[in-house]
Amino acid sequence: MNNKMSALLNWVDERFPLTATLKAHLSEYYAPKNFNFWYYFGSLALLVLVMQIVTGIFLTMNYKPDANLAFASVEYIMRDVSWGWLIRYMHSTGSSMFFVAVYLHMFRAMLYGSYRKPRELLWIFGMLIYLCLMAEAFFGYLLPWGQMSFWGAQVIINLFDAIPLIGPDLALWIRGDYSVSDATLNRFFAYHVIAVPLVLLGLVAAHIIALHEVGSNNPDGIEIKKHKDPKTGIPLDGIPFHPYYTVKDMMGVVVFLFVFSIIMFFIPEMGGYFLEHNNFIPADVLKTPEHIAPLWYFTPFYSILRANTFNFLWVPAKLWGVLLMGLAVIIFFFLPWLDRSLVKSVRYRGQFYKTALTLFTISFIVLGYLGTQPVTEIRTVIAQIGTVIYFLFFFLMPWYTKIDKTKPEPERVRW
Ligand code: HEM
Repeated sequence: MNNKMSALLNWVDERFPLTATLKAHLSEYYAPKNFNFWYYFGSLALLVLVMQIVTGIFLTMNYKPDANLAFASVEYIMRDVSWGWLIRYMHSTGSSMFFVAVYLHMFRAMLYGSYRKPRELLWIFGMLIYLCLMAEAFFGYLLPWGQMSFWGAQVIINLFDAIPLIGPDLALWIRGDYSVSDATLNRFFAYHVIAVPLVLLGLVAAHIIALHEVGSNNPDGIEIKKHKDPKTGIPLDGIPFHPYYTVKDMMGVVVFLFVFSIIMFFIPEMGGYFLEHNNFIPADVLKTPEHIAPLWYFTPFYSILRANTFNFLWVPAKLWGVLLMGLAVIIFFFLPWLDRSLVKSVRYRGQFYKTALTLFTISFIVLGYLGTQPVTEIRTVIAQIGTVIYFLFFFLMPWYTKIDKTKPEPERVRW
């Protein structure tokens, strides 16, 4: 049997670099030996991506992308299709858990300076993935054709109206109609099930290829390629990804799926954070919900959008809101060039960066919470303070990372 298997493998290898690829990316890819908790989230994001695609395919088999049938088809999936409720809850829980994994994955990069040279392109691919993920979630949310689907899309597409000159035409072009309608639902379905996932898969491949070209960073933020075994050329502080990290990642998968299952089986709505209460009501063009809010993963940016209440420099407040919201996302692309610190990892940075990152994280969470709540005067003031802190983190970064008193990095990684 073994001989037959190896003969088959040889046959394949002579025609396709199977063993060579597995070696290059798994058993002979040397990753730093000091990965910690924060390094689980890349593989978990990959797991959720696969889960979303598989459950998405099964949902598509029974979903109807038609404004008159969409809501009922989702109810049909939930009540009549065998295991339909499970597939749907896997997909809806998966979308939120995808953002949980990706936000923690991005935060890790900020902790350990993983976006810094030579990983700038890896970071840019990551940011493009993040943009695609936002688009994917936005398009997908219209599909159940509930009140929040409809009014959320209406609010967000109307933002394009605020752009001078081309705004109204652009909004009309995106909707394909004067209001969100069947035409909008059809095109969002096409984007959600095929266009964006294709781009996403391509970007994830590019992300991993870029990672394997430069090698992984680590919690010490030092390059393991600097110290190689002179005979073998293998980094002294590196261990083969397989079996060491495949086994470690499996442990992450088990814990993650445990948490995932608890949410999916017992609290799939997560108190309205994963599935909003208003979305259990079919879309009604004539009835605007009292309080329209996107799902939690968009709310920090939604807060920034609503925080600007001033007309300034002949630009109306609404357009400022839209510009700031866009900038709040785009500015992440520039992190590799804004950060001037001598060291990468937070372990060796000084008080300035540590304080700035803490304040930024608090502002992101507070803005996120405020975005889920109806607007009041006091909440608007807090959102304005949060927005200022959010942007100061980036705008002042070249200055405070430069003057920060850093500690010397060790020569070799610590455990
Ligand atoms: C579908 C979403 C994504 C998937 C499947 C994914 C996958 C991965 C994997 C498997 C790794 C190696 C393991 C690890 O370091 O955890 C990695 C590393 C990395 N990813 Fe992602 N990623 C995704 C999104 C993002 C996003 C949105 C960003 C940032 C904007 C990002 C930035 C990075 C960086 C900087 C590294 C290198 C980290 C280091 O070596 O310290 N990724 N990614």
